[in-house]
Amino acid sequence: MKDIFVKLGPNSYEIKIGWGIISQIDNQIIDLIAAFSPNPITANKVVIITDKNVAGLYAGSLANKLEKKGILVKQVSLIPGENQKNYSTLEKIYKAFFEHQMDRKCFAIAIGGGVVGDMAGFAASTFMRGIPYIQIPTTLLSQVDSSVGGKTGINHPKGKNMIGSFYQPKGVFIDTSTLITLPKEELLAGLVEVIKYGMIRSESLFHYIEKYSVDILHLNERALEYIIYSSCKIKAEIVEEDEKEGGIRAILNFGHTIGHAIEALTNYSRYRHGDAVGIGMVYAARIASKMGIADNSVAVSLETLLKSLNLDTEVNDIDPKQIIEKLYQDKKTIGGRLRFVLPVRIGEVVVTDRVSDDIIYNVLTE
Ligand SMILES: NC(=O)c1ccc[n+]([C@@H]2O[C@H](COP(=O)([O-])OP(=O)(O)OC[C@H]3O[C@@H](n4cnc5c(N)ncnc54)[C@H](O)[C@@H]3O)[C@@H](O)[C@H]2O)c1
Ligand SMILES: [Zn+2]
Repeated sequence: MKDIFVKLGPNSYEIKIGWGIISQIDNQIIDLIAAFSPNPITANKVVIITDKNVAGLYAGSLANKLEKKGILVKQVSLIPGENQKNYSTLEKIYKAFFEHQMDRKCFAIAIGGGVVGDMAGFAASTFMRGIPYIQIPTTLLSQVDSSVGGKTGINHPKGKNMIGSFYQPKGVFIDTSTLITLPKEELLAGLVEVIKYGMIRSESLFHYIEKYSVDILHLNERALEYIIYSSCKIKAEIVEEDEKEGGIRAILNFGHTIGHAIEALTNYSRYRHGDAVGIGMVYAARIASKMGIADNSVAVSLETLLKSLNLDTEVNDIDPKQIIEKLYQDKKTIGGRLRFVLPVRIGEVVVTDRVSDDIIYNVLTE
């Protein structure tokens, strides 16, 4: 098992990563609960939040284990899917908290993908002004991204993740073997975020994926541990520097500027988030090349890697003007100016607001 300590003062926590750890973490969860509660009598209750796909696979057996150790467990299994990330689902989580008579010392435990983790985290951050929670992510995307860093939230009809909070978990347990049951497309969508970490901070991670993509896709234990550990380490370092996205944390949005626009313009139904981010990264690299910020080989390497994984690298049937218009509606626009994260080389990016609409248009129409 590998450990990463996320150093955030009183909000610090550990990420534990390993193959098959879910069957051994009951004692560690109990230790965490004990550490955060001076009164073990009131704290022996947890609510496990999961979804109907993950409940039978992983949540049920952990619930049983905790119950055998004297913890009172209530499980809430949500309907899977991004379209469930809304108020009414949140209400179901609060209802479970009330029914289980949770107090401020009781833990919520999220087991599932990013949808479950984001909603459980938001419910935990707001219930009684905040109860502790644990993340047990089971998709590659949630293992390398959403479970670490404390962004929680739900969607609003006006936009994705528009209602939310920064609220760090008390612990993150990543069992890489849960990826065995994850559909391959979901694995690939998560792998795009790993490629993103390589692009923004680690040339060696990028080259590792180029070299060992077959092992990764075959879920080789060591390869998974390496890419997930490296990704979490990078995310943890960035979050430690800038917990609330006032500065450097923005580099995590590499590929997301155009990626988000593409997702929104196709009603979040044609592309998985990761697929859209892959396309967004390629366009960002091409913009960097056009502006003389990066060598053209950066865009070429990125495109070659994505193509070798059968991932899309461009869109041809969306009006570029619509994409540009959408970019200006992004919540990350600052003072009406577009903010782009562009590569300088593989492993290093810069944040700039100097990308002109003309350059974006050229790159989108080439
Ligand atoms: N908080 C953050 O910092 C952050 C960062 C990135 C993304 N996100 C959010 O994460 C969400 C996407 O997360 P996701 O990609 O994990 O999607 P998801 O939670 O919808 O999971 C994808 C699908 O896989 C299923 N599943 C999960 N684990 C499984 C397993 N081990 N075996 C079989 N099936 C499994 C789920 O039931 C679901 O159907 C989005 O809502 C996004 O906004 C948040
Ligand atoms: Zn993302």
